[in-house]
Amino acid sequence: MALIRIDEVDVKGKKLLIRVDYNVPLQGGVITDDLRIRASLPTIEYALSQGCSLILCSHLGKAKGEPDPKFSLAPAAKRLSELLGREVKMAPDCLGEATKAMAAALTPGEILMLENLRFHPGETAGDTDFAKEVMSMAEVYVNDAFGTAHRPHASMVAFAKVAKKCCAGFLLMKEWKFLGEAVQSPTRPFVAVSGGAKVSSKLGVLNNLLSKVDAMVIGGAMANTFLAAQGYKVGKSLVEPDLYEAARGILKEAKERGVGFYLPVDCVISLDAGKPIAEMRPAGQVPFQAVPDDAVILDIGPVTAGLYALAIEPAKTVVWNGPMGAFENPAFAQGSFTVGHIVAGVRGLSIVGGGDTDVVVHQAGLADKMAFISTGGGASLEFLEGKELPAFAALKECQS
Ligand code: 3PG
Repeated sequence: MALIRIDEVDVKGKKLLIRVDYNVPLQGGVITDDLRIRASLPTIEYALSQGCSLILCSHLGKAKGEPDPKFSLAPAAKRLSELLGREVKMAPDCLGEATKAMAAALTPGEILMLENLRFHPGETAGDTDFAKEVMSMAEVYVNDAFGTAHRPHASMVAFAKVAKKCCAGFLLMKEWKFLGEAVQSPTRPFVAVSGGAKVSSKLGVLNNLLSKVDAMVIGGAMANTFLAAQGYKVGKSLVEPDLYEAARGILKEAKERGVGFYLPVDCVISLDAGKPIAEMRPAGQVPFQAVPDDAVILDIGPVTAGLYALAIEPAKTVVWNGPMGAFENPAFAQGSFTVGHIVAGVRGLSIVGGGDTDVVVHQAGLADKMAFISTGGGASLEFLEGKELPAFAALKECQS
């Protein structure tokens, strides 16, 4: 069943609750990447053009079910206000009398940003009473939070269950179209480039992508686990020994399926194990068979980058998710930047997963060279795995 988009339902003059994903990176209260806020503008601007009053809600960070000022959505409301050139009121909470009074007083064209949903335990618990209370402020539920679509949280699922009317925002639909087409009918060769530190969460996904891609290119901490699983020494690098068996299974399956599986052949190391990444200094490049016992692998080396170019360049569809190294320290960013240039250069559809990969792409100045940058990290990976994400299932059920 197809999703119903906001411009396919009558929202004229209505009070909408729009679930956006404003889980943006902050440094000292300043937003360092506002992609997710800019990506929500088409839905917000459309709703404003229809004379709606808007209640926006989101989570930010890993708030633990109680108020925590460092996870306030106030900086996001401020940025949205700058982008729209109009006032965005900030609510003290996402429920309660004071917030409800602000929501009730909204007139057409006015916008209210609710405070972080995760300041209440009901959000991550998927609680129906919490959902009823928040949704009681609005007539229509609009989900435009692709980045959170893989979480079965209240604002993703229970809100749709208790809402009188539901629809999808333009961003949710765009992600669905781009990522969906990459998985269901990719123009081949289809290459997946995967990296980053979330090793355990990505191995399962890689397993599933194996049945869809022609080649798989691995970097970041995940590569260490694959190397160590084959008996290579990775010094003091980040590895997950309990995933060695799974990593060996993936290597075996790739071979059986004829999927090209690319792992680093050289790496940039540091001898500053135990220090924060920002303080680590590079100690040279070594082949993957010669990593010293006291070294930490922090980036792919130049020979690997050349090999990865050969694997990625022929792609007609490439999906990249996860940096190749600890790019947050410029000394270990080269591998990620080089792979970014290779992905940007493919003569086909270059799709970039969100999160850290989006940060790399912006730092390398490549954002306008990619066909599509997803606003979802985990969500885009699970989507590419072919799973039905909870937010999509809930929207379909609400519409039926
Ligand atoms: C993300 O940034 O991946 C989404 O906003 C979901 O955030 P979470 O991982 O804290 O659930």
